[in-house]
Amino acid sequence: AVERTLSIIKPDATRRNLTGKINARFEEQGLRIVAQKRLQLSRATAEKFYGVHAERSFFGELCDFMISGPVVVQVLEGENAVARNREIMGATNPANAAAGTIRKDFAESIEANSVHGSDSAENAATEIAFFFAQTEIVG
Ligand code: CMP
Repeated sequence: AVERTLSIIKPDATRRNLTGKINARFEEQGLRIVAQKRLQLSRATAEKFYGVHAERSFFGELCDFMISGPVVVQVLEGENAVARNREIMGATNPANAAAGTIRKDFAESIEANSVHGSDSAENAATEIAFFFAQTEIVG
C-alpha cells in the first residue's frame, strides 16, 4: 500500500551539505518528498520528539546533537514507505549498515547517523503530525 513516513536529515548531514545527495537516494529509490522544511530544533522540541527515549543513557547526547545545527524534516510517500525508507537508510549504527545505504555511505557514528526514519506506520502518523499540518503535505 502507499504509505507516508517521517524522515529527518540530521545536523551532521546538513553541516556537510548532503541534503541534495540524500534526497536523490530517496527519489531514485521510489520515494516522493511530499513535504519538506529546514528547521533549527529547540531543546524542548528535540526532547519532546525523542520522548520515547527519555530514559535511555544516550538521551541527553542525542538531544544535544539534534540541536547542534539545522535539520531537514520531510514526509516521504511511496509503496511501503516506512520499510522502504528503512532499507534506504540502512542500520542505525553505520558499522552495521549494508553497502549502498545512506548510513553506510554518509553517517559518522551511531549518534551522527545522518538520517532518522519512522519505525512503524503508527509512529509515522504521530511523527508526521508532530512536524507538519495537513495543508503542508502535498501528495
Ligand atoms: P534515530 O532513528 O533518530 O532514533 C534514536 C536515535 O538515537 C538513533 O537514531 C541514534 O542516532 C541515536 N543513538 C545514539 N546513541 C545510540 C545508541 N547507543 N543506541 C541506539 N541509538 C542511539
